[in-house]
Parts: sequence; C-alpha cells; structure tokens
Amino acid sequence: FRTLDQADVKGKRVLVRVDLNVPMENGKVTDATRIERVLPTIQEIANKGGKVILLAHFGRPKGRDPKESLKPVAGAVAKHLGKHVAFADDCIGEAAEKAVAALKDGDVLLLENTRFHAGEEKNDKDFVAALAKLGDLYVNDAFSAAHRAHASTEGLAHVLPAYAGRTMQAELEALTKGLEAPQRPVVAIVGGAKVSTKIDLLENLVRKVDALVIGGGMANTFLHATGLNVGKSLAEKDLAATAMRIIEKAREANCAIILPVDGVCAYEFKAGAHNQTYGIDAIPEDQMILDVGSQSVERVNSAINDAKTLVWNGPLGAFEIAPFDQGTVAAARHAAERTKAGKLVSVAGGGDTVAALNHAGVADSFTYVSTAGGAFLEWLEGKALPGVEALRA
Ligand code: 3PG
Repeated sequence: FRTLDQADVKGKRVLVRVDLNVPMENGKVTDATRIERVLPTIQEIANKGGKVILLAHFGRPKGRDPKESLKPVAGAVAKHLGKHVAFADDCIGEAAEKAVAALKDGDVLLLENTRFHAGEEKNDKDFVAALAKLGDLYVNDAFSAAHRAHASTEGLAHVLPAYAGRTMQAELEALTKGLEAPQRPVVAIVGGAKVSTKIDLLENLVRKVDALVIGGGMANTFLHATGLNVGKSLAEKDLAATAMRIIEKAREANCAIILPVDGVCAYEFKAGAHNQTYGIDAIPEDQMILDVGSQSVERVNSAINDAKTLVWNGPLGAFEIAPFDQGTVAAARHAAERTKAGKLVSVAGGGDTVAALNHAGVADSFTYVSTAGGAFLEWLEGKALPGVEALRA
C-alpha cells in the first residue's frame, strides 16, 4: 500500500484517522502513549503544508453524549504537538465544513467523536460521503482501530486516495517481523486470565511459532486439563477439552508448549497476601496460583534465549498486585536485555501487556510495543484487519 512518501499533501485537506481513545480521568488524559504515537504523522503532513483534519472515536457512545466528547483530547494533542489544534463540535455538516474552510496550510483540526453518528459503525455510505466531502486525501494512522470496518477506518479508504500513516506503517512492519516473516525460532508468550477469550489466538499461534509459553490464569486451565490439581486457582474447567485440542495441535505442528512447573500460591487474591511457592504437582487444595514460580521463569527465560523472535501478549501472573508481578517482571526484563544485546526481536501488544511492560520499566527496550488492544489480538488470531485491507485495495 501507499505511504506518506507517495502522498502529495501540500495545500491539500488531509483527513487523518487517528486513535485518540485514550484513558481519561476527570477530563485529564492519564496515559498519552496513543497521542505521542500519532504526532509524527501529524507533524509530517503539517510541515509539508497539508491541512490536517483529525478523525477519531472516543469510547462507545450511543449517539451524541457530552461525556464522550473529544474536546478535552484536542487540548492534550495541542500540548504534545506544541501547536494550536482547532476543534469542531461535529465531524460532518456545517460545523465541520466551516472549521475545515478556516484552515490554512499546516494547520491542525480535530473533529468531534465520529461515533456520535450511527453511520460510523454501520459504515453507512452517506456518512462516508459526508466525511469524504471534508478532505482531498485520506491517511489511516489508527492500526489499533483497524479491526473495525467503520466509516472512518475502512469506508473512507474506498472513496478517497488512501495512504498509511507513519504509525500504521511502523505497526505493520513490526507485526510482519513478529509473525509473518520472522527470524526463527519464534517464541510466543501468552498470558492473561482466560482461555475462553484466546482460543482462536492459541490455535493460530501453535501453527506459526516454535514454542508457546502459556502463563497467567489461563495456564491453570491447561494444567487442570492435563490432570493436575490447581486448588482454588482461577481455571475454566469446562474448557479442558479445548485445552487438550490445542496441546494436540501444537504437537502436530511441532510447537513446544511451555507450561508453569511451579506456582506462587496464596489463600486470597490480595496485594501482599502471604504466599509460598509450590511445585506444580503439589498445589495445596485451599490455595490459588497467582504467579509463576522462579523455576518457571527460568524456563521462560531459556525459551527466550533459544529464540530470535518473541511475540508477547498477556502477563504471566496477577501482575497488578505485588508480589505477584515478579514472574512477569523477571521475564520482561530478560527479554529486554536480550533485545538490547541485539539477540532478539521483541514485539508486544494487547491491553494489559503494555501496562505490564511499563510496570517492569522495559517497554522502551522492546523492539516494538503496539498500542493496540483488540486489533493486536485479531492479528495474533491470523485475521485480516478491515482497516488494513482497505489500504491495500
Ligand atoms: C481500542 O481502544 O482498542 C480501539 O480504540 C478500538 O476501540 P473499540 O474496541 O471501542 O472499537
């Protein structure tokens, strides 16, 4: 697909789809990572004399809802950009048209939440046309919203000359290095609470990677399926057959499955709870596994040592409460060291993963940390992302 290298933006109105779905508390942005990621594209277009018209969604409003206005986000973007960002309180119609008409070359405008209109999620052609009217070119820089076939993420690419923005480009390059055309061996680490949300993902990964580390609550489901007693641990016991099917598929595909060999256990899920490490065949009936133990971490680290590429999604334990963050932190730091030493390409993404890597203080040392949640998961599932496919068309 075409990138900004091919786009002649000077004097043009450029509709740029960004992901500004940032965490907010009391009208303040609490994590600006997504804002920082879209700055290069905005700056490049503005510096080349384009008129930047930002399109974005915020939350999941049903119709116009002032609580989900992007207005406070315009201020945050302006602060990070070091430049005025105009705001229009509708993304189509008169308010938007007037705001666009007032732009000079190099100016930046943010339009109100696209999801205030039902046509956005329906990818309705009249809504697409109303957006398209505002621009001469379309740039999609929102990989993290590319799993949605919405008007501003997909529809526009069919009606305007379409280009990938710099963050979209970086995400796709990193993901290709991670799983599509990786240096082998590839190890994947998949954690998180539940198998039920990651069945497709696990089935796709066992076909593509050489080793798969399973951690977090979901490991308990696998341990239970193989006949081990997991005490009071979180486990989806009704998914035992699914877990066995995944183990079988891994065997067929020559993918090693690495499960915990020990667990840090406690009587309750509470920060600072009294805890002890047990071998995986000796988990007490009245306790729960809240993190992987040190022997498991050694195994994970040795799998990382054997690999040239690492794909990581989901924490190995209950990383949000100390001391059950230790397994995740130790493995993340090890992966960061290998990456810094030039021995590993490390790609991580998906909801909690970025928080876990930030908590371990190593997000900057990974080769690439995706800001995508759902889109990263769908990519790990091997699904085509409509927003990306539309750019290729
Ligand atoms: C995200 O936050 O993952 C993206 O912005 C997509 O948001 P959505 O899940 O509400 O479509």
